[in-house]
Amino acid sequence: MATERALEFSADPGRLDGEWVHATLSAHAYWALGRSREVQDAANAASRCYGVYEADAQVAFARVVTDGATFGWLCDVIVDPGARGRGAGKLLMSGVMADVASLPIKRLLLKTADAHGLYEQHGWSPLASPSSWMEWSGPPSAD
Ligand SMILES: CC(C)(COP(=O)(O)OP(=O)(O)OC[C@H]1O[C@@H](n2cnc3c(N)ncnc32)[C@H](O)[C@@H]1OP(=O)(O)O)[C@@H](O)C(=O)NCCC(=O)NCCS
Repeated sequence: MATERALEFSADPGRLDGEWVHATLSAHAYWALGRSREVQDAANAASRCYGVYEADAQVAFARVVTDGATFGWLCDVIVDPGARGRGAGKLLMSGVMADVASLPIKRLLLKTADAHGLYEQHGWSPLASPSSWMEWSGPPSAD
């Protein structure tokens, strides 16, 4: 009989496997395909980073970019393709939301193509007034 190994959430940045984080996001995340290791490491260093581990190997990652006082942006949420569908995403989100709840921030945002159902299970809802929001997507291209 196959033994299911325990999944463990951690908010300890010292446990992160930077190589796994970069390799997984740059190969399997539709928003980060081809992102360099340098960019990922810089982003991680400026974020609150979270992981889920199975037998000490990292199988999930997320980070929150935040000032720690008023606002945060949840991003780079990913589970290893080989570990999906076994609760790692939900364990990750439970841990992220518990950590965020320890901060005085009043608003968190995220963007998702199709994982709304995961976030809704953790207290998220679509923007109440999308027309109030604006975005800047980088300087105009020279072409
Ligand atoms: C989305 C993702 C993080 C979910 O992780 P997971 O470990 O496979 O998911 P879990 O086993 O914890 O279950 C996820 C729950 O969210 C639900 N869900 C909603 N939208 C989903 C989606 N697009 N993908 C996976 N699950 C989704 C599932 O039905 C499940 O709920 P249920 O158990 O009540 O049915 C994972 O599939 C992944 O890394 N996908 C590719 C990257 C991505 O899309 N990340 C989110 C970007 S915003």
